[in-house]
Amino acid sequence: MTAFDEARARVTAGTAPTLAARMVVAEMTPEERLWCLDGDAPTWAGLAFLGGGGYNLAPFVAAAVERVGFPGIRFSDGPRGAVIGNATCFPVSMARGATWDPELEERVGEAIGRELRAAGATITGAVCVNLLRHPAWGRAQETYGEDPHHVGELGAALTRGLQRHVMACVKHLACNSMENARFSVDIEVDEIALHEVYLPHFRRVIDEGVASVMSAYNSVNGEWCGQNRDLLTDVLRDEWGFDGFVISDWIFGLRDAPASLRAGLDIEMPYRMVRAQHLRDALDRGEVSWEDVDRAVARVVATVLRFDDVLSAPVAEGELGSDVHRALAGEVAGRSVVLLRNEPVEGAPVLPMSRGARVAVVGRLADTVNLGDGGSSDVWDLDCHTVLDGLRSAVADVVHDDASDIARAAAVAAGADVAIVVVGSTYVDEGEYIGTTDASLTALLPPGDEPEVVERFEAWLASLPPTTKPPRLADRPKGFSLGGDRSSLRLSASDVELIRAVAAANPRTVVAIQAGSAVVATEWIDEVPAVVQAWYGGCQAGPGLVDVLLGEVNPSARLPFTVPVDESHLPAFDRDATAFRYDRWHGWWHLARSGRTPAFPFGFGLSYTTFSLTDVAVSAAEEAVLVRGLVGNTGDRDGADVVQVYVELPDPDAPPRLVGFARVEVPAHDEVAFELTVPVDRFATRDPDRHAWRRPAGPHRIAVGRFAGDPDASVTTIEL
Ligand code: BGC
Repeated sequence: MTAFDEARARVTAGTAPTLAARMVVAEMTPEERLWCLDGDAPTWAGLAFLGGGGYNLAPFVAAAVERVGFPGIRFSDGPRGAVIGNATCFPVSMARGATWDPELEERVGEAIGRELRAAGATITGAVCVNLLRHPAWGRAQETYGEDPHHVGELGAALTRGLQRHVMACVKHLACNSMENARFSVDIEVDEIALHEVYLPHFRRVIDEGVASVMSAYNSVNGEWCGQNRDLLTDVLRDEWGFDGFVISDWIFGLRDAPASLRAGLDIEMPYRMVRAQHLRDALDRGEVSWEDVDRAVARVVATVLRFDDVLSAPVAEGELGSDVHRALAGEVAGRSVVLLRNEPVEGAPVLPMSRGARVAVVGRLADTVNLGDGGSSDVWDLDCHTVLDGLRSAVADVVHDDASDIARAAAVAAGADVAIVVVGSTYVDEGEYIGTTDASLTALLPPGDEPEVVERFEAWLASLPPTTKPPRLADRPKGFSLGGDRSSLRLSASDVELIRAVAAANPRTVVAIQAGSAVVATEWIDEVPAVVQAWYGGCQAGPGLVDVLLGEVNPSARLPFTVPVDESHLPAFDRDATAFRYDRWHGWWHLARSGRTPAFPFGFGLSYTTFSLTDVAVSAAEEAVLVRGLVGNTGDRDGADVVQVYVELPDPDAPPRLVGFARVEVPAHDEVAFELTVPVDRFATRDPDRHAWRRPAGPHRIAVGRFAGDPDASVTTIEL
């Protein structure tokens, strides 16, 4: 029996995992303990493997010590599916944020978790909860939106689902909301903005029991996140009580080996890089202690022990890309489509359209598998369905034009009952970005690999199960240097020209926008009667969208961010900044404070039916505020509305907050009661002097409505 098996048996018999873990660590040699503090693969051979397309072929292994039977961790990424094997590609997180439905997100988590396990992973970086501070952020699609409460609830739901099958890792702590500058920018943020705006969603996921945290690349208040003691120890462990382990972001995630260990970072991912070169000497010089080493290793072992039941459960056959998961991806695709505009033409709204209509679908994206970012979240799904595929399988009379000639596309649209124009972005316009590597960063890498480590790595690679690279990726340039932060929030000139030409040719024109966050549509939107935000909708993007266009699914998604009338209404964004200040004002708060009316407010979305919100009652109890009311469906179709609870704090200078929401399904011409319990700690404010939370006190104005700034919201002032 190995030391690790013995520890497992002890934990089963009731020993605390932390205690059992210490026994395992005590059995390890000093070299084995150091081995646990970074990835197991060699740097250069590992990079060559990734450069050759290895990202989706194998998990990243760290901390495995065979002699004591410790399996370590096997990491694969997310969040739009398992980034390993030929998995199911779900709609991106931002699309899932638009569902405002934590229960649905939990089901997505379960499905992704099952696929990860089946493909050999034991931990995933699928839980990305960085706040969308500005819609130009290149990785906007990987998070859920601009609001801390909403992002936290969705991230916690994903974590719950995933952790039935694997360990989850929440990322990137903290303030990682710019892409091009991620290796160089320092974010200056005061204690109030940090704790009230940029951290609550991380805390929410920690409270949900997430196994691991990934530190961000950027620095916060003058220290790189991978070696930032304030974040990794003072806040994460001492204040929040986190008892899992911390991993660095990949390559250049830390720069100073002893400082990172002292700060509380447990594993440098994904290779033998900075620590493998410098930690031993730093220990000899006394810059870091063996207690620090043992503490980090013990945290990893204890967490794996805590998840032993989950990780040793048998894996069912056929999980990867299963029919059940594909059906769920289709359900989520439909549920994520936000109906932004649906004006009448000749007396009737354009949507939903009739199945018997002659439909023209035009645009370069109409028949493109457009899954989003081409970096670490790319899923190698082999069975993806475009908008054209979706229409062809549901509607008898479909004509298609790729719009390589706009006049021709307009002529095709002119002959149809309804014209659908598919426009937006791809992985070329937004996504993960590396760019040219600064020489000071390259200097962090070791001069060469250790031969025996390379040998073991290569033998292991040779033993991996086969994975097929999707043919659509064949001509794609390699690497992560595409995408990055968006250079414009508008559609391209050719997309706008296409919309105008089609709208002039066919009065029943529907624009479907594929993008990871807000698109400013001011210059063209009045020229078309209908617009939907359709995101990067995953493997069933087409069928999901078509369900909405046909009214099989009544749209119930709501924007998880604000769409401004003009870019200048947003706070500043500088994708090349080396220093930047984050405050409490972005998104809907920023617009409200500067008196700007958004084009589409946070929380907004239309339906094919209409709703009423009545009999709202708000009452304060000792530890919670209770919100009750009735949602009425005043139209002819079953539908779902999202009730949103906002609070204005007694401090007139504080931004208001979303403190609760509920998606309520209501049959046509019916009413359904809702009840929300809002814990009072959601109203608490940060006291920077005491580095602690102040209990709320005084008058709080509660608005219960259907989007941020809803003029019809029901308002009650309560005393806390
Ligand atoms: C990304 C992380 C990701 C990691 C591993 C990095 O480039 O920033 O979000 O988890 O790669 O895939």
